[in-house]
Amino acid sequence: MADRLYPPSEEFVRHAHVQGMEGYRALYERAKEQPEEFWGELAEKELDWFEKWSHVFEWNPPFAKWFVGAKLNASYNCIDRHLTNGRKDKPAFLWEGEPGDQRVITYQELHRLVCRFANVLKGRGLQTGDRAIIYMPMVPELPVAMLACARLGVTHSVVFGGFSSEALKARIQDLAAAVVITADGGWRRGKEVRLKPAVDEAVAECPSVKNVIVYQRTGSDIPMQDGRDHWWHELDKDVSDDCPAVPVDSEHPLYVLYTSGTTGKPKGIQHSTGGYLLQVRMTMKWVFDLHDEDIYWCAADVGWVTGHSYIVYGPLAAGATSIMYEGAPDFPAPDRFWQIAAKYRASIFYTSPTAIRAFIKHGDQWPAKHDLSSLRLLGSVGEPINPSAWEWYHKTIGGERCPIVDTWWQTETGSIMISPMPGAAPLKPGSGTFPMPGILPEIVDLEGNPVEQGREGFLILKRPWPSMLRTIWGDPKRYADQYWSRVPGCYFTGDAARQDADGYIWVLGRVDDVMNVSGHRLSTMELESALVRHPAVAEAAVVGKPHEITGQAVVAFVTLKQGDWKPEELAEDLRKWVAKEIGSFAKPESIRFSDGLPKTRSGKIMRRLLREIVTNNTVAGDVTTLEDLGVLTTLAAQHDDEA
Ligand code: PRX
Repeated sequence: MADRLYPPSEEFVRHAHVQGMEGYRALYERAKEQPEEFWGELAEKELDWFEKWSHVFEWNPPFAKWFVGAKLNASYNCIDRHLTNGRKDKPAFLWEGEPGDQRVITYQELHRLVCRFANVLKGRGLQTGDRAIIYMPMVPELPVAMLACARLGVTHSVVFGGFSSEALKARIQDLAAAVVITADGGWRRGKEVRLKPAVDEAVAECPSVKNVIVYQRTGSDIPMQDGRDHWWHELDKDVSDDCPAVPVDSEHPLYVLYTSGTTGKPKGIQHSTGGYLLQVRMTMKWVFDLHDEDIYWCAADVGWVTGHSYIVYGPLAAGATSIMYEGAPDFPAPDRFWQIAAKYRASIFYTSPTAIRAFIKHGDQWPAKHDLSSLRLLGSVGEPINPSAWEWYHKTIGGERCPIVDTWWQTETGSIMISPMPGAAPLKPGSGTFPMPGILPEIVDLEGNPVEQGREGFLILKRPWPSMLRTIWGDPKRYADQYWSRVPGCYFTGDAARQDADGYIWVLGRVDDVMNVSGHRLSTMELESALVRHPAVAEAAVVGKPHEITGQAVVAFVTLKQGDWKPEELAEDLRKWVAKEIGSFAKPESIRFSDGLPKTRSGKIMRRLLREIVTNNTVAGDVTTLEDLGVLTTLAAQHDDEA
C-alpha cells in the first residue's frame, strides 16, 4: 500500500521561508554545487563577525575548519545584536518553574544577566580557553551560565542533572575543569532534586576545580565549603552590568557535550563556534520556519544536545521567543504541557516520540481541556516515531493543521541533518523525508557501496558540514576511528536507514551497541562496566528490549560471583548501583540472573541472541558459533517480572 501523504496547506506554504519542493530543491542544489559560496553568503548575512575569514572551508580529513581565521562571539550573536535590531524588549525566554513561578526575560534583561555572570566568572579568574562544568536545573540561569562562558571564550560542558556524582566526576576530570556551576537543587514532580551533594562528592576528587558557584533555586539547607563554594547571588552583588564579548576564533570550542559511545567511556563531543552557530541558526529557519512573531517551545532538557542547539544557541541566534519549563510533563497533572502551550500561545512545539507515546497513554481528555489553536508546527526528535504516534500527534495536538517535522540528527552533528522543511515536503508519517542543504547522506553496505533503493543499509554523510563535531575532547584518534574510518572520508552515523522510491529517507535505529531509551543515548558497554564494578557481579551483558513508551528498555543479564546472594534484593541493589554509577535514568528495567552468558568461541558475548530472547523469548537466529547452548535455554526460560 502506498504511504499516505500529508502535503502542507496552501496557507502554510504562502507564509513559509522555503516554499514548496521547488524552493527546497533550489536551496539544496545550490548548497551541493557551490558549498563555499552558499555557506559564506549565509554566514555574512545571518551572523555578526568581528573579523572575516580568509577562506570558508578547510578539510584535512577527518579534521574540518569552517570560516578559517574569522573571529566572532556566540554570546554576542545570541544577545547583543538583538539590542539594536528591534528585539531589545522582545522576550527571549518565557520561563515557568514547576511550582508555577514565572519569569519573562527580554533580550535586554538576558544581556544584563549574562554580562553580570560573565563578570562573576572573570572575578574568579576564568579566562578564554578554560573549561567550566554546568550542572543545573532548567532555570534561566542555566542558559545564562552557558552564554556567560561563551562571552569569555570559556568552553562549557553541561552535565544533565540526572547524572550521578560518578558521571559528573568523570566529566570534570576529563576536561580538567576549573569551575563547577550548579544549584542547590531543582523541582521535579513536586520534589526537590538535589544537585549540590553530588557536586561535593565529585569535586572531592577533582583537583582542577578551584571554584564551585551555587545558584539558589530551592532554598534548601546545603553545606558550603569555605574558600571553594560561593553563592551566585553573593558574587553577583559587586559586578557591573557590562562585559564586552571576547572575540574568539571561529573554530574555538564553544562547548563539549558528553555522549555514550560503544565503549565504557563517554565521548566528549567538541563543537566549534562559527560553523555550529551558523547551522543551528539556519535550521531554525529551514526546519522550524521561525518567524519573529512565533512563540517557540522545545520541551527538551538543556542537558542534552537538543537543548543546546534548539533551546539556547539556535533560537537565541535567530532572535526567537522561547518557552522554557523546569519540570515534569505530567505534574501536577498529565495536561501540564498543554496548559503551558495554551497559556503562552505556543505556535511551534518540539518534543520526543517517548513523550508523545506517554501522552497517548494518558488519554485525549488531557489535551482536549486546552485551547491549542495557536500551534502551527510540531516537531519530533531523538528516536524514530512510529506512524500511529505520528497520526495521534498530528490529529490530537496539531488539529490536523500543523505539519510535523521529524528531525534526525545526533549530538555529533550539532544541528538537524534530515528533516522535512514544513512548507515544502509532503509528509509521510515516520520518515524524516529529505536532507538539509549541504548534507549529502547515502545508504551503504558493509563495504561502503550504495545499497539498492528500498534496501536497508548504514547511513553515512558524504561531506563535512559546518556544525559537525570537530573532535572527541583529548582523543582525536578515537574521533578518526569511530566516525571516519568505516567508509574512508565519510561520516559514519551508527544508524541504519533506507530510502524509498520517492527518495524519502527512513531512519531505522542504531546498528551499534548504543541503545535509545526515551530518546536518551545509553551505551551497553557503559552499563556493563558499571554493573561489573559491583562486588557481586562476575559478568554482565546489557541489551535493549522494545518498549511501548520509551522505545527501548534496558535489560541486564548478570552472572554472579560465588556467594550467598538473594536475587530480589540484589536486583534492586544493582538498579540502585547503576543509578549511582551513571544516573537514575539509566536504571535497567529488569535484571536477569544466569549461570553463564552466550558467547562465541572467541569469548565475545552474543548480544544479538540476548536481544532475541528479550524480544521474542526464543532464539531463532544462527547459533552455530555459540560455546554453551545450555545457557541459552535457561535464559529464555526466565521472564522479565523476575526483577
Ligand atoms: O539513532 C538516532 C536517534 O538518536 C541518535 C542520536 O542520539 P543523540 O546524540 O542523543 O541525539 C538525540 C537528539 C538529536 C541517532 O543516532 N535519532 C535522533 N533523532 C531521530 C533518531 N532516530 C530516528 N528518527 C529521528 N528523528
